[in-house]
Amino acid sequence: MTSIDRYAVLGHPIKHSKSPRIHKLFAEQTGQALVYEAHEVPAEQFSSAVETFFANGGKGLNCTIPLKELAWAFAEHKTERAQLAKAVNTLALQPDGSILGDNTDGVGLITDLIYNHGIKLAERKVLILGAGGATRGIIKPLFEQSIKSIVIANRTLEKAIDLETEFVNFGPIIGCGFEALNNQQFDLIINATSTSLTGQLPPLPANILAENGVCYDLAYSNCPTPFVRWGQENKALKSLDGFGMLVEQAAEAFFIWRGVRPLTEPVIKLLNDERLN
Ligand code: ATR
Repeated sequence: MTSIDRYAVLGHPIKHSKSPRIHKLFAEQTGQALVYEAHEVPAEQFSSAVETFFANGGKGLNCTIPLKELAWAFAEHKTERAQLAKAVNTLALQPDGSILGDNTDGVGLITDLIYNHGIKLAERKVLILGAGGATRGIIKPLFEQSIKSIVIANRTLEKAIDLETEFVNFGPIIGCGFEALNNQQFDLIINATSTSLTGQLPPLPANILAENGVCYDLAYSNCPTPFVRWGQENKALKSLDGFGMLVEQAAEAFFIWRGVRPLTEPVIKLLNDERLN
């Protein structure tokens, strides 16, 4: 008897995760037989939860806040992009029984910006707010799109400088504090801080968004996040939240697990209609 392939997302909190719904829609669309659940797992139970899941025949996991660094440490093998991010959002059982760790967040962001929103990245000056794990995962994918430069602004200056040092070989990159942003202008501002989760906004000077500039919040919410509102108030051409990125990173994980690439557009449209109306 063959049992149905099992997948899950682990996180804390996880109750409001949209991943089970997204993967169910992908599975229906592509005719793949699988189940995908959400499990509440605090950090201290991470290793035992993952070991139990795979020991019981599970095929793959997504890991979200606050487990991505733990998943990185857990994975026996890692892709280059996961290695650079020092964070893993996708664990995949390999044919030899080992566990591969990958990070699909960066490709999810790029796909959403370019293909879903038609944003041109070549030669753009990019500002990333925050210097945590989310920022680590998007630096190289952005440079691969021939952007002009990246400035990383962070509350804790040393962390921004550390990322500058670590990623300097990938392209022009500078780490600084928020106060150093005065008198600069950017074509794309990405909020990779955790401020939207607490309803806050990083301390942004006025006039830093170039004409026709775009704002993108890696976080998403059913109503505009404080940073999305900031973009709207500062006349961004587009001020977007990370909902499209969520669906795109899920599609990449689905591809890693199943070898089939689902269409994301109908899923984004359906779920956006539900969350915004
Ligand atoms: P993630 O893995 O999601 O990136 P993280 O590694 O905890 O999460 O990083 C959170 C980021 O949000 C950090 O850059 C943090 O700034 P510090 O390095 O100074 O802690 C930033 N952040 C959190 N709250 C913030 C706030 N109120 N204002 C500005 N930045 C904030």
